[in-house]
Amino acid sequence: MTSLQWGGRFTSAPDASLLAFGSSLVDDLVLAAFDVLTSHAHVDALAGGGIIDTTRAAALHAAIARVGQEIENGQFAAYAQSSGAEDVHGAIDARVRELEPEHGAFLHAGRSRNDQVATTLALYARARAEDAAARCRSIARSLLERASNELEAGTRLCATTHWQPAQPVLLAFWLVAAAEPFARGAKRFSAAAESASECCPLGSSALAGSSLPLDRQAAATRLEFARPSRNAMDAVGTRDAALDVAHAYVRACVDASRIAEELVIWATPAFGYVKLGDASSTGSSLMPQKRNPDIFELTRGVASAQIGTYAGALSSLTGMALSYHRDLQETKRQIVDGIERAARALAAFERALADTTFVRDACNAHAADGYAVATDMADALIAQGTSARDAHAQIGALVRRAEEAGEPLDLSARASVEGKVTYGSTSPAAVRAAIASLVDELESFDKLRMTRS
Ligand code: ARG
Repeated sequence: MTSLQWGGRFTSAPDASLLAFGSSLVDDLVLAAFDVLTSHAHVDALAGGGIIDTTRAAALHAAIARVGQEIENGQFAAYAQSSGAEDVHGAIDARVRELEPEHGAFLHAGRSRNDQVATTLALYARARAEDAAARCRSIARSLLERASNELEAGTRLCATTHWQPAQPVLLAFWLVAAAEPFARGAKRFSAAAESASECCPLGSSALAGSSLPLDRQAAATRLEFARPSRNAMDAVGTRDAALDVAHAYVRACVDASRIAEELVIWATPAFGYVKLGDASSTGSSLMPQKRNPDIFELTRGVASAQIGTYAGALSSLTGMALSYHRDLQETKRQIVDGIERAARALAAFERALADTTFVRDACNAHAADGYAVATDMADALIAQGTSARDAHAQIGALVRRAEEAGEPLDLSARASVEGKVTYGSTSPAAVRAAIASLVDELESFDKLRMTRS
């Protein structure tokens, strides 16, 4: 049986090397389980429209379910690769025809790979977005747990701008700052999952809809889309929802990379604020003393590579006419590659983060370094009636004299931190409130998700 889904109008076979070049099988095997869902839904659409009877529908569902099992137990990949199919969709269709010689050839009625790819990619993107929303929430939660512990311990840190000592803060304050982007990321992923759930392309056929009375609502319902897509031409050609998910992944990687960068630097002996755990560190094949932060470095590396992959996916759409064009295969490859790699990077980042400990003494010892309390001293003058400009000049001169004498300023990092009074500041009370508020936000988000599903 040929695995190609076309050929009747040609007199000779396609060139093997060109067929190999055009194949997307290696890239879209990861979508196999989602094509199974799409295929089941298409059977519903065929049966719902009376295009196939219930016996045929049951036989097709059973064969598709068998393929689903073969995907799950790992058998299917080898079959697909040896099948000669152009893509995972063709391979699944071929396997269904093999398993079900009598009914299998009716599965593709009214269906094109164009609406099949669009639907399958949307389902994949939605599932990955949901995974990532959960991942972001779990990263945020673990950062907040650490924040509570460090707040309890009163650990202080010299926060920097331009990597120069700026002002003392609580380590808990930094940890909340690290958690916030992941809470926002979780929301971004949920919104992207929602956009991937909006409309079901299946039943759009090649681009114009079908002259077979497909029950599109039945397909949309089974796949948990809000409704069937409104315009077949748009539905087969858009990659908007998958791009939203890919974008959310890039953003989460960039957020992780900023924390990774700071930890890489804090793990150097010059800082010594953190200790990397054995499980997430690597050694050197030559230098016996080495403990390298490879996972955090890879977090940075993957983030910048993902920006490139995402830009590639987006750019492949530039100027593309509406409906399906084969360039979309490249768009899909880059979206899927990007998401898969980013998902692995976020998982590794979370694991390495859990394996990293703060060295409280080192953090505290440097909290007032570089005259970081100078701003509080200027604020104290302002509070007594001095103008901001004069206070700045007076304390600036004080810093100059202290620096010449090699002396610190007469204010502790602890007093600096405890003296903050504004909402959202690094004072212990404000940090406690911020932790509670963000924990609440994450919890209500979880509840919302639970009531929805
Ligand atoms: N493999 C293609 C993709 O992944 C689908 C092929 C659709 N081909 C076609 N001639 N309509 O996008």
